[in-house]
Amino acid sequence: MLESHKKLERNSILLLIFAVIAVSIGGIVEIVPLFRMQTTIEPVKGVRPLTPLELAGQDIYIREGCNVCHSQQIRPLRDEVQRYGHYSLAAESMYDHPFVWGSERTGPDLARVGGKYSNTWHVEHLTNPRSVVPESIMPNYDFLAKTYLQTWDLGDRMKVLRFEGVPYTKDDIANAQQDAALQTLPDEDASGLQARYGAKVIPQAFGGTPGSPTEMDALIAYLQQLGTQVDFTTYDPDFELHAAAAAEPKTVKK
Ligand code: HEC
Repeated sequence: MLESHKKLERNSILLLIFAVIAVSIGGIVEIVPLFRMQTTIEPVKGVRPLTPLELAGQDIYIREGCNVCHSQQIRPLRDEVQRYGHYSLAAESMYDHPFVWGSERTGPDLARVGGKYSNTWHVEHLTNPRSVVPESIMPNYDFLAKTYLQTWDLGDRMKVLRFEGVPYTKDDIANAQQDAALQTLPDEDASGLQARYGAKVIPQAFGGTPGSPTEMDALIAYLQQLGTQVDFTTYDPDFELHAAAAAEPKTVKK
């Protein structure tokens, strides 16, 4: 045994080959299970796929490179949690394809920006950031309000996401175009939209153009739901531990 090991250690090519084999086995054991999302991500109550309008907004977010200056991941460090809120959970981005965690913070993290500002604030800020934050270096995105949103392909986009594991139903896909417009109409009956995506989805004129959304409407709809899906007043990260403890018969101390 030792003799053959000596041979291995004296032949660099042989050593290299065996080292690669050993490392690959370790890699396969660690990495392959991660490809099965079910085993890596604990589902958390409230997390839902994006509505068609929000999905279109996410596409604009990526197209405009917002993720180059903004991250969407709050680390479990005290300063981050105090500034941005509860640290990000894996489940919160489980339906993002591609994910937009980002790695650069020229601007602040946006993982929980939903509900922080009004829609009007977002319109003003995106149109000209300096009108609300004088020292801002963020570019103007005023053209978004002048561009009508292209919605005819949303159903197809959702079909692709369904293929990737996002649980959009046939009903969601068939109604995509209509739902996108409906989410910007505060006075219409939204029961269908809410049955599909939950009662927390409240139609409103995000960018100020009800009925025929612009890219501004879509982007703001996307921003306003960021970090709002999970209810952190009731979220219990150790739910399973606590449930098991509660189920154990109580022993009486003598
Ligand atoms: C060149 C870098 C840069 C790019 C690109 C950029 N931003 Fe910003 N963003 C900033 C900076 C810096 C701030 C902080 C100052 C301010 O509020 O304007 C900011 C602030 C924000 C805020 C307010 C966050 C808060 O909590 O106060 C939002 C929302 C925002 N950006 C959204 C976007 C969106 C959406 C896009 C893409 C359309 C985008 N940003 C692109 C740099 C950028």
